[in-house]
Parts: sequence; structure tokens; C-alpha cells
Amino acid sequence: MHNDIKRVLFSSDSLIQRASEIGKQITEDFKGEEVIVVAVLKGSFMFLSDLLKNIDLYCRLDFVAVQSYGDTVYSGDLVLIKDISVDVRGKNVVIVEDILDTGKTLDFVKRLIEKKQPKTVKVCVLLDKKTKKASTIKADYTGFETDDVFVVGYGLDHAQLYRNLPYIGELKPEIYS
Ligand code: IMP
Ligand code: MG
Repeated sequence: MHNDIKRVLFSSDSLIQRASEIGKQITEDFKGEEVIVVAVLKGSFMFLSDLLKNIDLYCRLDFVAVQSYGDTVYSGDLVLIKDISVDVRGKNVVIVEDILDTGKTLDFVKRLIEKKQPKTVKVCVLLDKKTKKASTIKADYTGFETDDVFVVGYGLDHAQLYRNLPYIGELKPEIYS
């Protein structure tokens, strides 16, 4: 598995450290209030875990799952596979996603949540890729910026593999091309 990685971009320690910083920032920003964390399955799960351990607030957790269809993995229309079941009306919501690439996924999820009339909606992403965005969506909390290369690990996959790597690395192009 490690042989498929061209280079390590973010070490396990640096990811845990950054997740903890963002968790503490969210704690500060919502002091005295409750938040509902809505995580996007599946890629966000490791970041989510390290983040939540550092959110020192009353906090509820729910998940959404979306799937894209179309000619490439990212360009197709998005379909909601799993909606949230917690009631977010009048509540503070923090959406947690692994990576902001074209922005389509987060745009879709943010609109879905906004329709449910929460008090506030913030977007938290581990990685923001320097890609041409198809949407104007911006993250309120960002772990790291990355170059436009295909990355895996720490929850991120290629063909459902590599999610269990403790670090984030660039996948060798011959693996996915
Ligand atoms: P967007 O809708 O184009 O912003 O794409 C976001 C989704 O594409 C993320 O939730 C990831 O699942 C996936 N994605 C984008 N880039 C990568 C990558 O480099 N590695 C793994 N998944 C990626
Ligand atoms: Mg995803």
C-alpha cells in the first residue's frame, strides 16, 4: 500500500495537530452555544474524529452521504444518498468535509442544510485544493491548502482504498491513470 504513494504531503502528527487547532478555534467561536456537526461521508471520518475530540461544546453529530454521477468522478450531478436525521432548525451547523476540490459537493451539502433553516452554517474542510472552482463556496475553516494532485490517506480514498493510511500522500499517477 505505501509503495503506491509518490510522496507524503502531510504527516500523521501534522494532521492531528491541525485538526486540534481547528477544533479549539470552533470551540472559541461558538463559546456557550451548541453546535451540530454534519460530516460528509466517507472521506471526512478521520479528520472528524481528531476534530471532535477538540470541540469542547455541547455537540451533536450527524452524517450526509452524496454520490456523483457523470463522465468523470467529480463532474457529474450529485445525488443525496443519506440525509441527516437531527433537527437543525435554529441551530448552529458546522459541515465537515475532507477536501474542497471543484466545490460542487460542499455547495450541494450547504444548500441542503440551509433549506432546513439553521441559525448559522459554517464549512470546515481539511484540504482546499488549488483547483478551478465550479462554485463560489468558501470554507470558514481550512486545514491545509494543497496543489492540484490526487491525494489519499487519513480518510481519503482512491477506489475505496487507502482510507486507513495515517498520513496524506500523493498517489502515484500510474495507479489511477
Ligand atoms: P468537489 O465536489 O469537486 O469539491 O469534490 C469533493 C470530493 O471529491 C471530495 O469529497 C472527495 O471525495 C473527492 N476528491 C477530490 N479530490 C480528491 C483527491 O485528491 N483524493 C481523494 N478524493 C478527492
Ligand atoms: Mg467525498
